[in-house]
Amino acid sequence: MRSFIHALPKVELHVHLVGSAGVDTVLELARRHPEAGVPADRDELERFYTFRDFDHFLKVYWAVQSMLKDRHDVHALVVGLARDLARQNVRYAEVTVTPYNHLLDGVSGDDVLAGLASGRAVAAELGVELAWCFDIPGEKGVHAARETLAFALAERPEGLVSFGLGGPEAGIGRAQFAPFFDAARDAGLHSVPHAGETSGPATIWSALRDLKAERIGHGTSCVEDPALVEHLARKGIALEVCPTSNVRTRQVTSIEAHPVRQMLEAGVVVTVNTDDPPFFGATLEGEYLAVASALELGHAEVARLAENAVLASFLPSRRKTSLL
Ligand code: ADE
Ligand code: ZN
Repeated sequence: MRSFIHALPKVELHVHLVGSAGVDTVLELARRHPEAGVPADRDELERFYTFRDFDHFLKVYWAVQSMLKDRHDVHALVVGLARDLARQNVRYAEVTVTPYNHLLDGVSGDDVLAGLASGRAVAAELGVELAWCFDIPGEKGVHAARETLAFALAERPEGLVSFGLGGPEAGIGRAQFAPFFDAARDAGLHSVPHAGETSGPATIWSALRDLKAERIGHGTSCVEDPALVEHLARKGIALEVCPTSNVRTRQVTSIEAHPVRQMLEAGVVVTVNTDDPPFFGATLEGEYLAVASALELGHAEVARLAENAVLASFLPSRRKTSLL
């Protein structure tokens, strides 16, 4: 199964750029920026990465993010991610970038764009096409939404395909972001908010209704509402499932206990993704393997998961065909 998974041409639909920073990159940044409070020692860093819960995970994530200072840091992150993807035969990835946070940390918009563009060019040389999802850090409210939208539409960097919404969910209603998603969609960007990762099915309904979500980031809690599961299956709205992430942030107790089985049985389009891979000790191949073994899937079913990701991607149809 391992070599079968490796050989599949794969697509990753849910990975955060900051969350893709590998241990070596983080150690290097931590040594350069000690004021960020990120351990510069490997063992200590591993302890720092042992998440107590989702809020603790976000604190660590923000600490890593605060060490990105210029275009070289952004470039290094993109290239590190591209290398990890190329090694796993991942041919295309939609990568979530949160420009608002970088701008807030004092990185110039030009540096963010330059780092993304130069890193993307290196990725292409490695045989990995990268696309961008610019997302709103939901906890920072409508101001962040306005700035993220303005940046996305003013700059329209090559490869930008979608508009997202991340961060904590509880108490942060999706509906307040509706006007920004409307404008993003009018400008041709796809809608891919996180929903149902750390809150219940009402958040997913709101993402569908208010943000016209075309795919859902996580969507784990959909199984609490049979009508929602049926709706997702009937409309073919893909879920970007990130199994190990959900275990590590304690949303589920184990891969075996993950509702991915119910999702598949109900005919929901499930895609398998990593979220923040080194943070969670995850790889895309590892996620496929973990799901395959937890659900006792055969080769054809695993291939179907990879195919789901190709079809649910925002690649043009002729590129999709080449990956199927
Ligand atoms: N930002 C980075 N990873 C995230 C996740 N899993 N959920 C919400 N926001 C995030
Ligand atoms: Zn995510």
